[in-house]
Amino acid sequence: MTTLKGKTVLLTGASRGLGVYIARTLAKEQATIVGVSRSKSELDQVCSQINDFGGKGIGIPFDMTNVTELSTLVQQVDRIVGPVDILINNAGIEVYRVFVNYSLEEIQSIVTTNLLSAIELTRLLLPSMLERGSGKIINVASIAGKKGVAYNSIYSASKAGLILWTDAIRQELAGTDVNISAICPGYVSKVGMTVNSHVPIPRLAGISTPTYIANAILKSLQKKQPELIVNENILTEIMTKFLFAFGQIYPEFVDKVYRLIGVVKLNQRRADKLNDMAIMSNKIPTILTNTAVLK
Ligand SMILES: NC(=O)c1ccc[n+]([C@@H]2O[C@H](COP(=O)([O-])OP(=O)(O)OC[C@H]3O[C@@H](n4cnc5c(N)ncnc54)[C@H](OP(=O)(O)O)[C@@H]3O)[C@@H](O)[C@H]2O)c1
Repeated sequence: MTTLKGKTVLLTGASRGLGVYIARTLAKEQATIVGVSRSKSELDQVCSQINDFGGKGIGIPFDMTNVTELSTLVQQVDRIVGPVDILINNAGIEVYRVFVNYSLEEIQSIVTTNLLSAIELTRLLLPSMLERGSGKIINVASIAGKKGVAYNSIYSASKAGLILWTDAIRQELAGTDVNISAICPGYVSKVGMTVNSHVPIPRLAGISTPTYIANAILKSLQKKQPELIVNENILTEIMTKFLFAFGQIYPEFVDKVYRLIGVVKLNQRRADKLNDMAIMSNKIPTILTNTAVLK
């Protein structure tokens, strides 16, 4: 897919964070972008930005956890703009907790938003792409899906699932003109879930701007790239790839590196912060009051 001009993109999680940057980047390529998320007002703002940047923006408010209703969403999109050329599964949530403090509802919500909805949306859109002999699917995963992340275990599980499901489907799609890829960013600056946690990012882990990630997604749409670990600092990107490769043989060595560079500590702080807030609002019957018990 060399040009995106006039192509129809279905982008989930378009209302804020990384989604806005992806939308703007694709708008500059004159694509039609159907943005999906729960908040209508934020979607409307993004759509007007898409129009300003040279694309065409259409917002459809929808809760991705309503997986059984995704077929209705797909029909609605088809009625408004016709068939989808590019699907970007970007909607995602994370909740930091000591594992035993997660409620079943939280676990279901994370797995459904990050994994199940992407699988179902793809299942619904893929037949038309195959029939037309053209299509591209990008799954926005995370390096948290390449190496388990303490105190964000459900998020990690959902992203690991997304990466391996992409890997399996890519093999099924070999020989067709439909491509699927997983993009795995590390920490993202300026906007998004990392910044929203208001806990500083460990410098050694590497940070990328949302513009850099959005451009990487654009490149991946223009070329055939199976899986991308993306970091704006090329040295950190190379080291991360080697670390994950090494982790296949010695996972505990990478555990030590994560502790050393501060990833575990950072997540403990995030989990404690959320935990304290939940206790204060009586939202969770805590078994462990904070991560200190586990140290
Ligand atoms: N930021 C990072 O550091 C980072 C790093 C690696 C990977 N990622 C991945 O990048 C993607 C975007 O993350 P972000 O940082 O931009 O997060 P964000 O700022 O929290 O935005 C998440 C987006 O997903 C949408 N969303 C969440 N739950 C939804 C639901 N049930 N139904 C429909 N839409 C829903 C939100 O819209 P509404 O709330 O309006 O519904 C919002 O548009 C995620 O998949 C994330 O895992 C982010």
